[in-house]
Amino acid sequence: MKLLEGKTAIVTGASRGIGKGIAQTFANQGANVAFTYSSSVEAANALEAELNALGVKAKGYQSNAASFDEAQKLAEAVVGEFGSIDILVNNAGITKDNLLMRISEEDFDTVIEVNLKSVFNMTKAVQRTMLKQRKGSIINMSSVVGIKGNAGQTNYAASKAGIIGFSKSVALELGSRNIRSNVVAPGFIETEMTAKLSEDILKDWRAGIPLKRGGTPEDIANACVFLASDMSAYVTGQTLHVDGGMLT
Ligand SMILES: NC(=O)c1ccc[n+]([C@@H]2O[C@H](COP(=O)([O-])OP(=O)(O)OC[C@H]3O[C@@H](n4cnc5c(N)ncnc54)[C@H](OP(=O)(O)O)[C@@H]3O)[C@@H](O)[C@H]2O)c1
Repeated sequence: MKLLEGKTAIVTGASRGIGKGIAQTFANQGANVAFTYSSSVEAANALEAELNALGVKAKGYQSNAASFDEAQKLAEAVVGEFGSIDILVNNAGITKDNLLMRISEEDFDTVIEVNLKSVFNMTKAVQRTMLKQRKGSIINMSSVVGIKGNAGQTNYAASKAGIIGFSKSVALELGSRNIRSNVVAPGFIETEMTAKLSEDILKDWRAGIPLKRGGTPEDIANACVFLASDMSAYVTGQTLHVDGGMLT
């Protein structure tokens, strides 16, 4: 028996990186997958075809996670097409790094809107469906940086720390309706987002990690399968660090 058989998941930001890994792993575990992306149309079409070939239902939606209205339309479209929403993974995220001295107001606001307000947008959008179903698992992608802070990432760290407070509050509000809300805090996962960093920084990071390697999208996806599945039926309000021991 596959762990997510018969469940429908929305995964935001799945055209590449961690989100793509989650969509693939969820489909391999039997989930039907509705996923979003911002602009990577070709990559999204390829992923849609790849997932459908696994025998599950899958569809990509171009939808800006930072837009409240687009989140509402997305959730309506997914319910219409898939019939339910059992799992929401708020994964879409961006960085616009700069020292506080140099960061612009626009770059601060954009990161908060794409990374944090998106989580509010999507959670509001699926809430009614999950309440009716009397079940649901919401997984929000934070970061070790949201727990520890990071020089040059005031905007990103604030957005990722905000996600943790938001998720715990949702866990408290919706627990009585069997809707769970948890956070995954990845460490250093090797994707396009981290490929932007200099090789020196990457080397230092790998050396400082107890497991001595960067993580893979699949490492994060496997943690998400646990939180999405009934294996974690009694787990809510938690932050799972998937970081090779980085913060230990
Ligand atoms: N990589 C790491 O080391 C690491 C560590 C900790 C936490 N995280 C978090 O994990 C998540 C995924 O990171 P990643 O490394 O996989 O990033 P990535 O490779 O840069 O991919 C980001 C994904 O988000 C989508 N996206 C960006 N802005 C969007 C928007 N406004 N609306 C909808 N989708 C949007 C992108 O779509 P397009 O392809 O269309 O642009 C893409 O699919 C992020 O929340 C990130 O903060 C990553």
